Amino acid sequence: MKKLIGLKKTKAAVFISGKGSNLENLIKFSKKKISPISLNLIISNTSYAKGLRYSKKYNIQKKVIFFKNKKLAEKKIFKILLKKNINLICLAGFMRILSRNFIKKFKGKIINIHPSLLPKYKGLNTHKKAIENNDKYAGCSVHFVTAKIDSGKIIMQKKVKIKKNDTVDSLSKKVLKKEHLLYPAAIKKIYN
Ligand code: GAR
Repeated sequence: MKKLIGLKKTKAAVFISGKGSNLENLIKFSKKKISPISLNLIISNTSYAKGLRYSKKYNIQKKVIFFKNKKLAEKKIFKILLKKNINLICLAGFMRILSRNFIKKFKGKIINIHPSLLPKYKGLNTHKKAIENNDKYAGCSVHFVTAKIDSGKIIMQKKVKIKKNDTVDSLSKKVLKKEHLLYPAAIKKIYN
């Protein structure tokens, strides 16, 4: 992608379903001079997402779009994205699968953070699987989103050592810390 540092920032939206720690981390990153993105929109598929509170805290527009009817939901999202000139979508704990059609419309402009060292452990319960398989390392990946779940081109990864006494909880906390370093780094990499 085009080198944007020093030029106008790319407008980005973050899609969430939960806590939003990656969202807040990306908001903080986007405010830095070196960030190639500005963060202009938060989308959630549920009104219960704790991360929605960052809308008020940082004065960023939010929209809750229910996915009961996916086609309709994506139509609404698409309209908002166009209206706001959004050129990058960052999925951050967004627990809905976007349709092939939607992904095609934003080809190469949707990225996701996933809590495993892809291609290992696509889908859910990644830390549980890594511990059960006695893996030496867990980690996180940022990748481009394609119609095949958690399978698009990997942009960057970070590793975490799994210790003998690690639980799903302790491991997910360690990996989340790495996620907060990884997501901004991966975004910088895309635009450099
Ligand atoms: C993160 O660990 C992220 O990698 C994961 O959900 C968590 C969201 O945390 N994403 C997925 O599992 C996607 N399949 P956050 O709401 O605090 O950013």
